[in-house]
Amino acid sequence: MTVRAAVFVSGSGTNLEALLKRQEAGDLQAQIVTVISDNPDAFGLQRAASHGIPAHYVPARGRPKAEYETEVLHILQEAGVEMIILAGYMRFVGPTLLNAWPGAILNIHPAYLPEFPGAHGIRDAWEAGVKETGVTVHYVDEGVDTGPVILQERVPVPETGGLEAMEAAVHAKEYDLFWRAVNKAVSHQHK
Ligand code: GRF
Repeated sequence: MTVRAAVFVSGSGTNLEALLKRQEAGDLQAQIVTVISDNPDAFGLQRAASHGIPAHYVPARGRPKAEYETEVLHILQEAGVEMIILAGYMRFVGPTLLNAWPGAILNIHPAYLPEFPGAHGIRDAWEAGVKETGVTVHYVDEGVDTGPVILQERVPVPETGGLEAMEAAVHAKEYDLFWRAVNKAVSHQHK
């Protein structure tokens, strides 16, 4: 079973890259058919293009969210998208997309939710001085990092190397967890 998926990125797109590698290895039960970004400079757009995946920049600033999301919705409908995967997408998803893909929007968060929600999950955990943090992949609802968890795993905070080492450990766990969570969500969608 495979579903057609869109990946949304706002930045570097290393998680997108990890998913594309899994797709090319035949490990991913979703087929990434399009990539969307609200940021024209997102390196994720170039990563998509270099894997032969159509990549779209859709401007979001200075216009109503519903108008922006309607433009995105048309691109996704055209591509026959059944699942949306947020991979470092720095905007809240509004009702236009939430209502069109109910229970089919996933997000990756670099902390063990409900610990450290929000835009700075790694730094907040670092500043709190925790011994372990984690990574969570969850369904998106109208809240901030609040939807039902699909998969989450702990990451011990490295004893040396500071915040940089912690970031590297969290990202490594993201690349290992995300594709498995996508597969779990796909199986669930088709039960
Ligand atoms: C990741 O840490 C992800 O958890 C968070 O944003 C970051 C995106 O990194 N939501 P990248 O663009 O995938 O490199």
